[in-house]
Amino acid sequence: MNTSEIRQKYLDYFAQRGHAVVPRSNIVPKEDPTTLFTGSGMQPMVPYLLGEDHPKGNRIVDSQTCFRAEDIDEVGDNRHTTFFEMLGNWSLGDYFKKEQLPWFWEFLTKEVGLDPKRLYVTTFIGDEKNSIPKDTEAAEIWKGLFKEVGIEAQVAEIGSEEDGYKRGVKDGERIFYYDAKKNWWSRAGVPENMPAGEPGGPDSEVFYEFTDVEHDPKWGEHCHPNCDCGRFLEIGNSVFMQYQKQADGSFKELPQLNVDFGGGLERIGMAALDTNDIFRLDNMWPIIEKLQELSGKKYEDHVEAKRVIADHLRAVVWLANDGVVPSNTKQGYVMRRFARRAIRRGLELGIYQDMFKHVAGVVVEIYRSAYPEMVENLAEIVRVLDAEEKLFRQTLKKGLKEFNKLVNDKKALDGETIFRLYDTNGFPTELTIEEAEAREIPVEKDWEKVFDREMKAQKERSRTAAAGMFKGGLQDNSEIVTRYHTATHLMYRALKNILGDHVTQRGSNITHERARFDFSHHEKMTPEQIKAVEDMVNEAIVKDYPVSFMEMPTDKAFESGAIGAFGDKYGDKVKVYTVGDPDGDWYSREICGGPHVTHTGEIGKFKIVKEESSSAGVRRIKAVIE
Ligand code: ALA
Repeated sequence: MNTSEIRQKYLDYFAQRGHAVVPRSNIVPKEDPTTLFTGSGMQPMVPYLLGEDHPKGNRIVDSQTCFRAEDIDEVGDNRHTTFFEMLGNWSLGDYFKKEQLPWFWEFLTKEVGLDPKRLYVTTFIGDEKNSIPKDTEAAEIWKGLFKEVGIEAQVAEIGSEEDGYKRGVKDGERIFYYDAKKNWWSRAGVPENMPAGEPGGPDSEVFYEFTDVEHDPKWGEHCHPNCDCGRFLEIGNSVFMQYQKQADGSFKELPQLNVDFGGGLERIGMAALDTNDIFRLDNMWPIIEKLQELSGKKYEDHVEAKRVIADHLRAVVWLANDGVVPSNTKQGYVMRRFARRAIRRGLELGIYQDMFKHVAGVVVEIYRSAYPEMVENLAEIVRVLDAEEKLFRQTLKKGLKEFNKLVNDKKALDGETIFRLYDTNGFPTELTIEEAEAREIPVEKDWEKVFDREMKAQKERSRTAAAGMFKGGLQDNSEIVTRYHTATHLMYRALKNILGDHVTQRGSNITHERARFDFSHHEKMTPEQIKAVEDMVNEAIVKDYPVSFMEMPTDKAFESGAIGAFGDKYGDKVKVYTVGDPDGDWYSREICGGPHVTHTGEIGKFKIVKEESSSAGVRRIKAVIE
């Protein structure tokens, strides 16, 4: 059974049980400024879980397109993708555990036809601190369901994930109790992390066992359902959304008992095919095939690169379908990163042009029967993505020109040259090497050592440079203050991206111990927003963007996209600092006197330690670097 059939069967199964089938919501949440993308099926349902009347009734089913940019680093393994579809069914104060668990079980075993012997389930062990009881009811229901198919399910008390690795699975065990980290669901995670007002509850997950995957002890001594080795795959989660966090930190029952079920369509598809490679599914494989064709290289020979490219291409086609356009802020910024990463990785496979043009049609073809609007959007999707591809390839071309100049009469390419191309032209190292190979220019064996040495020397130079004027707000221009100063620029950009463009700087003060930053924003930041800002800053640090400055007329500065802290109180000429490639995909651009580090990698790890009110409509953040 392929994923289209599974999606249809699921919608039909719940429609037959009184559920209204509703269309997916846009990947960009229209009425929720707190998140950039829809990352789970329940996000659009939050108001109804809290008690608002849903226009379609109190039983809802859908398949929601989701995008989790934060999973980017997991992509490349057998089961993670950043775009996916989540099957969802909801009871809004209607049915509860006794209906939900048997229905999902029946759907898996009868409709999809999974072998019950391959299924394992987990439930919530309870949380004494928060007076939330153990979910023995779910465990009893599961026992009965296993019994019906002749399986005497034994129950195991696991607790934490670490306990799971120590203990493993004993003969006959099917039902596993885990702690809140694993069997509690809210948008903010465990009860401690939930802000007041947030709904959440215990959940119960179903896992499929791939019997041909051997446990890999690098994850932990023994395998257990929540082990990451790939033997067990979570294919569905029934959340019993029945609590709401109170202002005093306690948990109160919601006025209605809800079910929030979410199951990865693709993951159920993997179980149906008994394949542990998500890229072999019908909604991925045609993309891989296209990449094989474009590159003339087999999947098996470039598994990781092909997976990353296929994932990113599918994601950006969907983002384009949902109206996102590559840019330097918010959703557009994320989309640009994904598109460019796909192009870069494509170069590894020898794909040098028109990748999006070729692949967009394949993606749309995959989804045409379930989402016919994509067919209408295809021309626009191709236009948007092709323009971005051309733009980025231009940047790369400029780098190539420089390459030609530098290697002109060189016998062999050395580490200094490779570093220079990388440092001043933003030309990726792997491209330089590839280009050299293609032209049969030998590359010096020790180039990596030399490259690293140059990188170190560069950092050293920037430490001792300590140039620039002493500026208001900085304690001095020591190395640590300089690092904090650049970190503040990164944070300002991230705040605008995460909270919105209304964020403007109201004050900045940097000492040897911390950065303090005041900005306009009307409400307390949620823990997720704080984390999103930290993640974005740390990602920019890891990317080790170059930091450069230029002097230019003030109006030109604003025209070029620079932000400034002081409105119109500037002279005719200003200094503009850019983080990232000034001619291409830059990350932040601010009018500022400096000084700054030369590369963001010098900053260290960034952490927000406090977020509080400063005055009416102004928030204050204190952040440290480690
Ligand atoms: N909202 C739940 C999840 O995303 C079902 O896992």
